[in-house]
Amino acid sequence: MSDGGRMENLLEPDLSVTIGGIRFANPVIAASGTFGYGREYQGLLDVSRLGGICTKGLTLHPRSGNEGIRLWESPAGILNSIGLENPGVPVFIEKELPALRTLGPVVIANLSGSSVEEYAEGARLLNASSVDMVELNISCPNVKAGGMAFGLDSEAAALVTAPVRRALNGKPLIVKLSPNAPCLADVAASCVKAGADALSLVNTFKAMAIDVEKRKPVFDTISAGLSGPAIKPIALRMVWELREAVKVPLIGMGGIARTEDALEYLMAGAAAVQVGSATFVHPQTMTGIIDGIAAYMKRKGMVKLEELDIRFNG
Ligand SMILES: Cc1cc2nc3c(=O)[nH]c(=O)nc-3n(C[C@H](O)[C@H](O)[C@H](O)COP(=O)(O)O)c2cc1C
Repeated sequence: MSDGGRMENLLEPDLSVTIGGIRFANPVIAASGTFGYGREYQGLLDVSRLGGICTKGLTLHPRSGNEGIRLWESPAGILNSIGLENPGVPVFIEKELPALRTLGPVVIANLSGSSVEEYAEGARLLNASSVDMVELNISCPNVKAGGMAFGLDSEAAALVTAPVRRALNGKPLIVKLSPNAPCLADVAASCVKAGADALSLVNTFKAMAIDVEKRKPVFDTISAGLSGPAIKPIALRMVWELREAVKVPLIGMGGIARTEDALEYLMAGAAAVQVGSATFVHPQTMTGIIDGIAAYMKRKGMVKLEELDIRFNG
């Protein structure tokens, strides 16, 4: 039978995907800042089944994060103003990375900084470590210096992407984009030109909340980052548009809570997805989505992940 191979494969669709030369067993990755360093979730889900784990945003030096309220629920979403609390790259490499490495999924270090020099030095240390890839965070809306400022225009984005690319010396580089950039396609193209192997999008949307009893903004930082189902249709549209604008693989995220959400991103052209806020609600969201994607592909007679892409023509 001419489609015999296809029938056999129906039983086991291949969910693997290669990004920047690194093979992921499946396209579902834990999003930065929502999964600690992986070990925190052991016992709540089978962490080894994930395609990848992205660490909390790391800076060269330790940061204690922002004062005051850091998390606030909104309808269909969550606002956060964590302020990049983290132990610093050297302590991460020494204390967290060995355990994270043993879990199985691809290890992605999310790197942030407040100056180009700090980003480059962090990248140099990560390059010498056993992390598989670096995700350059030029999109954090909750820190005063650096962070999102680098992700808002194409020149600033290239200014930090190029030295980090050089410091990584061959290790794959993902640049994480801000949905707050006035012209996302320009920033994306500039990051690719400066050496990004892949782009991830989106980080949180700049937003705010007011405590009406106290008559003051909820967050000391006034604004915070909005994530969760509320942002999904906008983030999805951004992935769809960038798929046309750039040639590198895209990692889509924003509001993924169910299999259908992940499928929408993969259909819009994302090579993989990240899941963040939904893990807080149901820690097993990601493993459920992996099973859900496999079941969908089987039902549709698909054998390879890229067949999900609506514009796939291979
Ligand atoms: C509490 C919290 C902390 C976050 N910390 C980081 C971070 O350190 N670095 C980063 O690049 N993104 C961070 N993010 C953004 C997420 O990785 C993700 O881009 C965003 O939440 C959208 O995905 P979601 O709607 O599935 O949560 C954080 C998000 C949340 C909710």
